[in-house]
Amino acid sequence: MKADEVKKVGVLGAGIMGSGIVEVCAKAGIDVTFVEVDEERREHGLQAVERSMARAVERGKLDRSDRDEAMARITGSTDIADVADSDLVMEAVTEDLPTKIEVFAHLDELTRPEVVLATNTSSLPIAELAAITKRPDKVLGLHFFNPPPVMKLLEVVRALTTSDETVDFARAFAVRLGKTPVLSKDRAGFIVNFLLIPYLNSAVRMLDENFATREDIDAGVKLGLGHPMGPLELLDLIGLDTALQVSGVLYDEFKDPIYAAPTLLKRMVAAGYLGRKSGKGFYDYEKQ
Ligand code: 3HC
Repeated sequence: MKADEVKKVGVLGAGIMGSGIVEVCAKAGIDVTFVEVDEERREHGLQAVERSMARAVERGKLDRSDRDEAMARITGSTDIADVADSDLVMEAVTEDLPTKIEVFAHLDELTRPEVVLATNTSSLPIAELAAITKRPDKVLGLHFFNPPPVMKLLEVVRALTTSDETVDFARAFAVRLGKTPVLSKDRAGFIVNFLLIPYLNSAVRMLDENFATREDIDAGVKLGLGHPMGPLELLDLIGLDTALQVSGVLYDEFKDPIYAAPTLLKRMVAAGYLGRKSGKGFYDYEKQ
């Protein structure tokens, strides 16, 4: 199948990343069915898409009529069988390998054998997800960045078994979504997190050692390097639990102390300070 022939996409998981991916596809004119584990999370996913599109309308990025058309293309479900007739499925469930393996085994049974199955994992080995299916040549990573409707990058991650045809399809699909694809090998962190995580962890260590205040660390990076956010603000956006999980995977893969999660990050996650999504991280927020 060609990328421009994709009419319906299935998205598994409608958390921060899944709901953003749903929005990106619907705005590109593609029908999307997303699946969540229960009614409450399904509703939460739909609300997240509505809130984000409302912001896009407010900022003049989206017409009201385009918003309404995009919303009408979205169906939320709690039954994975509802993605069975999709032309492409993207998985964005929790970053846990056994959970993702179970999802891929299920998707392999449900969908047509020629359908590409993609994972939005930020660090887990895609080879293991491919190996569980009968179509290892059609499995790859499509790693979006947070917030998916705004960030222009899409990392296309090629596992050892992924075919050239699947990679070409994924690159073309990224362009159809208005994203710029970059190609990475299937190695923990891919391109961006391999660089980002040691930097974020260094900022947490600086704060923990009272080297500078949170405001000064963030201002230093914003004003000195021209980043839109400082590292502590960015950690709050990504989610401290996600950053901790990615650090762990990178450390396991490379055994290099630059990837080891700082103690303060671990303790904050243990305390439930997860960033924007929990209402408190390095800064305070209204709970979303
Ligand atoms: N829909 C469409 N466009 C939107 C939008 C929405 N919901 N929200 C904001 N925008 C647009 C704005 O219109 C603006 O566009 P412009 O530059 O053309 O005017 C642009 O996005 C930036 O918006 P603002 O300047 O108003 O500032 P915001 O505070 O709203 O922006 C932000 C927030 C986009 C998150 C910005 O601060 C940013 O880019 N931060 C860095 C994010 C980042 O680094 N993400 C990567 C995280 S790492 C990751 O995801 C990997 C994972 O595996 C860990």
